[in-house]
Order: sequence, then C-alpha cells, then structure tokens
Amino acid sequence: MRYSISNHKGGAGKTTITACLAEALAARGRRVLVVDLDPQANLSRRLGYDGEALAGLVTVSEVVKADEFGCAAQAITACRWALPLTEQIDLIPSRFDLENRIPEAGQLGAHMRLARALAGVTDDYDVTLLDCPPSLGHLVQLAFAASDGVLVPVRPEYDYVAGAVRVREFLAEHAANLARPGLTVAGVLVNEQDRRRGLHGFHVESLAELFGDLVWQPSIPSRSVLAEAIDAGEPLRAQNGPAVRDLTAIFDELADRLEKLNAAA
Ligand SMILES: Nc1ncnc2c1ncn2[C@@H]1O[C@H](COP(=O)(O)OP(=O)(O)O)[C@@H](O)[C@H]1O
Ligand SMILES: [Mg+2]
Repeated sequence: MRYSISNHKGGAGKTTITACLAEALAARGRRVLVVDLDPQANLSRRLGYDGEALAGLVTVSEVVKADEFGCAAQAITACRWALPLTEQIDLIPSRFDLENRIPEAGQLGAHMRLARALAGVTDDYDVTLLDCPPSLGHLVQLAFAASDGVLVPVRPEYDYVAGAVRVREFLAEHAANLARPGLTVAGVLVNEQDRRRGLHGFHVESLAELFGDLVWQPSIPSRSVLAEAIDAGEPLRAQNGPAVRDLTAIFDELADRLEKLNAAA
C-alpha cells in the first residue's frame, strides 16, 4: 500500500516521520520504498544523497515527465544508510528541478502521471511512503492520485492543526477528481509535543476532537538526538543514548499502527 505524508504547513515533521517510519519498518525486515516529492529534496539527503550524489541520477522529475506505466522503476536507488537498512529501503529521489513539473499541471491527465509511473513498481514493497512538500498543489496531487491513504504529521500549534484540517477538506472535495474517491486521512501523527507547554496540551485535545481515533499514539517528543540524526543524514539507530531507545520504541508503535492499516486494506 502507498501512503502520502502531507500537511499544508511546512516544518510539521513530514520528512522526519517518513524517514523514521521507513527505518522502523525496515528494522523489522519490511521492504520499504520512499518517494521524495519535495523539490527541496530533504528526504533524499536524509537517506544519503546530497546535491552531488543526486546530479547524475534519474529522479522523480524525469519519471513524472516520462509518464509511462511502470517507468518509476528506472529511478529506484538503494538508500545509503548502513547495512541492513540499505537492503530494506529504496528511494526514488528528488532534485530542485522537480519544480519544472508544476507548470505542466494543465495538460490533460497530468495529475495521473506519478500513479501511472508507479504502476506495478510498488508491488515489490510492503509499504510505499510518499513525502510531500507543504502544499496542496500539483506535486501533492500527483502523490494523492497515487496513494491509498494520507498520513498527516502535526505539531500541536494552530497553523499546523489548520494545515491538517485543510488536507482533510481538500481530500473531501477533490479526491474523486484525482481518481481516488475513497482517499482520506488515515492517521494524524503528533510531532514535537512538549508536555510542559499548556498550549500544546490544548491543541492535542482539539486534534482529538477534530480527528478522533485517527490520531495515532504515542505522540513524538522533540529530541535533539533526532535533529542530529537528520543533520547527519543517518538513521536514528546510528545515534546513542536513552533518547534513541525511547524514540525507537515510539516509532515502533507507530509502525505497528501502519502495519495494521496495511493488513486491513
Ligand atoms: N521530533 C523532533 N525532534 C527534534 N527535531 C525535530 C523533530 N521533528 C522535526 N524536527 C526538526 O524540524 C525540522 C523540520 O522537520 P521536517 O521533517 O523537515 O518537516 P517537514 O518535512 O514537514 O517540512 C527538522 O529538520 C528537525 O530539525
Ligand atoms: Mg519535508
């Protein structure tokens, strides 16, 4: 199954959660494909591909442009994390020139290009995660049209909650236009919750009112070790200390929920 990771607001933790869920699934032996749909290419760098490494690669941009059934296979590359994760996680990388696909949105059927490119390709994987930019424009529509569910990372602050609600409203209004009439928010993942901050508690409660049991447990705390792993382009497991064990356990529980969803589909 394929899941878009989306919030209309930037900095919610989309890329972080995509990478950490992929890591948790890979650590239990699952095969995971991650697709970077953000021209900022943060996920690609996170998995070991910086500007130079990306230069010569076939990326999601070429695949969307080619618009042929199954052509995404040509862009698949192993993630550059150490063994065993490199064998479990594959990446379709992105580059800043993915922006060039946006003006093509007006061409008939353009929003279906990624779904066509991924046809058959994701059958080899237990889970496919599509990391979206903070938008509801063409690149995200490409992802939604190729997805079975949408996961929404949220920081417990006003603009992020509003961004999550906009994703839900967009799907209610437009999923059918993207040939995915049943596509809905399958999970809301609370990121960077600080339990000492009253405002965070307030927004976690309002998320529960808005999304009910679609809010996945547990929430993800803010931890410098996670930011350090992101900076280093390494998996969480490459870091040391008790915070790594806590976070690993948290992402394991979130991966359990994702696998339940996957099994029910
Ligand atoms: N749980 C967390 N703990 C610490 N830092 C975090 C956490 N989640 C996100 N961050 C920080 O916030 C930044 C933005 O997160 P990111 O996943 O790139 O957001 P998005 O992809 O939604 O724009 C990261 O680079 C990292 O520094
Ligand atoms: Mg991102």
